[in-house]
Amino acid sequence: MAKLIDGKRISQEIKDELKAEVAALAQQGKTASLAVVQVGADPASSVYVRNKKNACAYIGIGSESYELPEETTEEELLALIQELNQKEEVHGILVQLPLPAHIDEEKVILAIDPSKDVDGFHPQSAGALMIGSKGFLPCTPAGVIQLMKRSGVEMEGKNCVIVGRSNIVGKPMAMLMLRENATVTVTHSRTKNLKEVCKQADILIVAIGKPKFINEEYVKEGAVVIDVGIHRLEGKKLCGDVDFDAVEPHVSAITPVPGGVGPMTIAMLMDNCVETMR
Ligand code: GUN
Repeated sequence: MAKLIDGKRISQEIKDELKAEVAALAQQGKTASLAVVQVGADPASSVYVRNKKNACAYIGIGSESYELPEETTEEELLALIQELNQKEEVHGILVQLPLPAHIDEEKVILAIDPSKDVDGFHPQSAGALMIGSKGFLPCTPAGVIQLMKRSGVEMEGKNCVIVGRSNIVGKPMAMLMLRENATVTVTHSRTKNLKEVCKQADILIVAIGKPKFINEEYVKEGAVVIDVGIHRLEGKKLCGDVDFDAVEPHVSAITPVPGGVGPMTIAMLMDNCVETMR
């Protein structure tokens, strides 16, 4: 039986640690506040935004939300970001993605002051991660590292295969695993012999956005499998990029969906917000 890596429990543990830290920092007169910006009313984004605001309230971080209509222009959004950059009471800025098609996401990310970039998406944050200097870490990959550290998964010297090369997960995940002294391979849609490459992995991290794509043919006996995907199947059931039932009997540890990586993203966002106070 594989060990279940419990993201719900670990994220709660992190939030409780942060709550205590925020209370102690408040004694020194320090506060933090997050501005959450959503453009349009995508239902999944609305759920994420609500969860982020609830997490702020739980930990003791202030939050202000900006819910802008779908028709908001790029100029209007950039003007709001400039205002938030200058606002001293705002310590972190989060613009929920995806943005409507008429807004250039790259321009918006670039406009955020790197000292308030709690998502870790600004090129300055990405560059800092690459060269190992101080900067905000992107929340999902940072959450995956915490999941493994707090579940006793040894990373040093291990073969880690990452499936997916997005700027939000795959690429920063590779940098963070390198920092942990793993040997890292990044695979993607053009990778030849994907099954064989994945079968070499001691640690397989999957972020490709395809429901149940990874089955037992992709995993080595005893590997650790981390599933970053989340999909809603017909009938409303959630699943990941990994076919859990097929893979679970073969591995030593695996993250479930839901309750694996998902809750960690918000916990690490909260950690970045608290970082602005430290
Ligand atoms: N959309 C999906 N994931 C994320 C995230 O981590 N941050 C933001 N801002 N938008 C997202």
